[in-house]
Amino acid sequence: MNVLLLGSGGREHAFAHFIANSNQLDKLFIAPGNAGTSQVGQNVSLNPLDFDAVWEFCIKNSIQLLVPGNEDPLVNGIVDFIQQKCEGSDYKISVAGPDKYASQLEGSKSFAKEFMMQNNVPTAAYKKFDSNNLSEIEGFLKTLSAPYVLKADGLAAGKGVIITEDFEEALNICKKMIINKTFGEASSTVVIEEFLKGIEISVFVVSDGKDYHILGSAKDYKRILENDKGPNTGGMGSVSPVPFADEVFMNKVKSQIVEPSLNGLNAAGHPYKGFMFLGLMNDNGNPKVIEYNVRMGDPETESIFPRLKTDMLALLNGVANGKLKEIDFNLDKRTAVCVFLVSEGYPGSVEKGIPMTIELDTNDDDQFVFHAGTRELDEKVLTNGGRVVAVTKLANSLEEAREKTYKAIERIQFTGKNYRKDIGNDLIRYIK
Ligand code: AMP
Ligand code: GLY
Repeated sequence: MNVLLLGSGGREHAFAHFIANSNQLDKLFIAPGNAGTSQVGQNVSLNPLDFDAVWEFCIKNSIQLLVPGNEDPLVNGIVDFIQQKCEGSDYKISVAGPDKYASQLEGSKSFAKEFMMQNNVPTAAYKKFDSNNLSEIEGFLKTLSAPYVLKADGLAAGKGVIITEDFEEALNICKKMIINKTFGEASSTVVIEEFLKGIEISVFVVSDGKDYHILGSAKDYKRILENDKGPNTGGMGSVSPVPFADEVFMNKVKSQIVEPSLNGLNAAGHPYKGFMFLGLMNDNGNPKVIEYNVRMGDPETESIFPRLKTDMLALLNGVANGKLKEIDFNLDKRTAVCVFLVSEGYPGSVEKGIPMTIELDTNDDDQFVFHAGTRELDEKVLTNGGRVVAVTKLANSLEEAREKTYKAIERIQFTGKNYRKDIGNDLIRYIK
């Protein structure tokens, strides 16, 4: 099978790594990819949002399976586009991702909230505002207590959520988001919602529109500094599974969230084919949805995929073609700890092009190095961004996996290397 994978981050290197391990693979292309993906496939310079160019590339290279890694192509309707193109040709390309309608779960916060209300999925109380009901914002904020949560309706590159303790500030920011379009068109509508208390956890689901599997739970560490201090980043590490996500909790996630969500999309005529990422709050043992994403998470993928014992191409093909039932689905019960190495200055501006040395044992099946911000020059690996590489180790316990990951990190060097030393620390107390 020939495969085209869209994206260039650590998540995409993880996809590429496991796709390349499949004996069903003939050729893997990654657009645009990074220095890690080029070790397991062929990077191609192609804009994932230029759907015509993606289609042309697929035809020329006999691509049978298209795998969008990030949300942009999905929210912009790549699945519907390819489907329509295939209808008018002899060519058939399967796409492992949800259609444009279902992708609104991530593309529009107000769509997601309305969908959850209609399908009785537990979530925070909310109301949406735009230029037509600006005068009602103050009244709604008064029904809530601080902190106040304001969300740009559309995609805002992970920056569209503002949480503030101050009532006046919440009111002013909300009006500015709408009137001044602080986040462009994405904030012409704003969702204000109740603040949920508890511990965050991500749960990943894979579905072919009929059947589903839980890919596991994970926790990501978003802040740059230890003990969750400092500014937000694209993710400094992750752990999977999360010890407090026990069977009772996960059964609630399935019956109260996963099944009503998949059934709701089926009833709307848009069966969900792809990865579903549930951002949840664990409110005293009760899961509530903070957000849906229509893709895998980054850096959660880097700790979830190493636990997947199923052939990645068989899984992706099953998802795209309604054949998930035929697949032997297995998850490793061990724990994976992923730590991201970042450049000095991140999440602010960073110097790129710094030479790296990576001296890790390539024969260790329980060890993974996923590239994110790297590029290759004359067979040397250089840094090429803020989040540089993710290191993941699998072990029998969280403590052991932590120890091994931190030891492995010592064998990757570049000037300005920075990382959090407390990934997974907060979870040790939940181990039974
Ligand atoms: P989102 O983009 O919706 O995931 O929001 C970004 C982050 O804001 C989440 O990961 C949470 O940490 C926080 N957040 C969002 N909504 C809420 C909420 N209703 N209550 C508490 N925290 C929230
Ligand atoms: N780890 C959060 C995300 O992928 O959106």
